Amino acid sequence: MADKQIIIDYKEYASEQELEPKDQELAKAAHEALKGSYSPYSHFRVGAALLLADGTVVKGANQENAAYPAGLCAERTAMFAASANYPDVPFDTLAIVAEDSNGLCDEPATPCGNCRQVMAEYQSKYGRPLKIILLGRRKVLKFSKVDDILPFIFDSLKV
Ligand code: THU
Repeated sequence: MADKQIIIDYKEYASEQELEPKDQELAKAAHEALKGSYSPYSHFRVGAALLLADGTVVKGANQENAAYPAGLCAERTAMFAASANYPDVPFDTLAIVAEDSNGLCDEPATPCGNCRQVMAEYQSKYGRPLKIILLGRRKVLKFSKVDDILPFIFDSLKV
């Protein structure tokens, strides 16, 4: 038996303005994506902007439904739209932002487990790391690959 640890490297910024210009632009797109949120039940709005390897940016926003499980998170609406419309263009960076009734959330919204698993799928499909930026008003986090927010990823292509 051995005790093991997983160490996760990530970057923390005090604000979006500290991000490199390319990431600031993607952050802006994530804010714009909030307009597409359909969230009459939770009143929690989430916007996502996915930068593809060819520079295309695909936006997504959470979509809710009276039958709750039928809705979908912002991250997956962006990833599925990208995969459906640009099936051969690898994913580069996904930026996510959330707001509640008080406006932009202070803390970054961290993606749910299902969204992380979907990120892992495309990262594996394209064989290149998918970077993730989580935007909060007081804090911004950047991860260089999905593994850092989903340790012990299930990957049927690798088992
Ligand atoms: N939501 C997202 O869109 N992304 C996340 O990472 C977490 C949650 C949505 C789902 C639902 O519409 C609302 O936020 C409240 O859970």
